[in-house]
Amino acid sequence: MYSLLRPLLFRLDAERAHERALSTLSWCARHPGALSLLRSVCAVRDERLEVTRCGLTFPNPIGLAAGFDKNGTAIPAWSALGFGFVEIGTVTSIGQQGNPKPRLFRLPLDRAIINRMGFNNEGAVAISERLASLGVGDRPVPLGINIGKSKSVPIEQAAEDYQQSLRRLWPYADYLVINVSSPNTPELRKLQDRQHLETILTVSKELCSHDRKPVFVKIAPELSWAHVDDVIELVESFGLGGIVACNTTLSRGGLQTSAVEAGGLSGRPLRKRSLELLRHICAHSTLPVISVGGISNLQDVIERLKAGACLVQLYTAMVYQGPRLVRELNRGLIAYVERQGYEAVEEIIASGISRPR
Ligand SMILES: Cc1cc2nc3c(=O)[nH]c(=O)nc-3n(C[C@H](O)[C@H](O)[C@H](O)COP(=O)(O)O)c2cc1C
Repeated sequence: MYSLLRPLLFRLDAERAHERALSTLSWCARHPGALSLLRSVCAVRDERLEVTRCGLTFPNPIGLAAGFDKNGTAIPAWSALGFGFVEIGTVTSIGQQGNPKPRLFRLPLDRAIINRMGFNNEGAVAISERLASLGVGDRPVPLGINIGKSKSVPIEQAAEDYQQSLRRLWPYADYLVINVSSPNTPELRKLQDRQHLETILTVSKELCSHDRKPVFVKIAPELSWAHVDDVIELVESFGLGGIVACNTTLSRGGLQTSAVEAGGLSGRPLRKRSLELLRHICAHSTLPVISVGGISNLQDVIERLKAGACLVQLYTAMVYQGPRLVRELNRGLIAYVERQGYEAVEEIIASGISRPR
């Protein structure tokens, strides 16, 4: 089906195609009949797929990465498509338009995307109101909310800005993500530095002390190992949730596409670095890691789980392969579990690298 639809979508400008896809899913999210149809065609329910981490049970380990549903308009549709969890955002405390268009580009030869969206979103207040209006049954899978810095706020006031968004959105999230790694907000990546990050995490810890929730830090693929170790140490010492590795890259190494735009690169070219990062984090900590970057098939998912990821996310592969990819991955995981004589996906994770104690 998607093989028929894709040429039509790819004829549209990339952002317009994204808007069409999202508005269709948002419509489905408001219509129970459409949701059940989607669910019957796409979702795979099987207890063997379940993963439990940070006090949350994920019906399967495949999640939607941040950036697709920035405003959280299609939340129930993502689980109907088969995702085991959804991360909305990036949300900023002040609603913003993002960068001028065009700002989203496909690189089909490389199975990649470049984006310089710049955190276009409705802002924490509007999004919290939308989340408050969701019914109990509208959130069948864990919901992550990814928070970033508002563009107009200077870097010295970043912690207060994150705090405002966190306060607003905290009640609606199952887990939160501090995004300090998007390449499209000036200076944002500086917030990965120890001192800045420490201030932001102090704020998160205060909120955690009232209502305990896992908080993850999302990092950039360009961080040096020493820098990654700093992030590990901080997340551990603050007793927060874990790490999301990783965001898009500014590197253009190994691309087949010649004339490339400015912005963050995602998809297949990010695969190797994202896996290296995951392996480094898992070799040096016991933190839960959500692995994201260039995941496009079952082998990738198994490789990440064996490398120590407890969950994975994807975005770009869905643009190229369509939403049925999630079903394929979940079915593939069940078949793999059966072939190996395992009881469940948790055993794939356990069979991988041994993590430090
Ligand atoms: C168009 C686009 C927008 C994105 N927006 C965000 C965002 O707002 N916040 C964020 O943390 N990551 C964002 N990302 C990064 C993804 O969440 C993910 O980390 C990255 O794309 C790598 O995964 P992939 O190779 O499966 O796409 C965006 C990615 C794309 C392609």
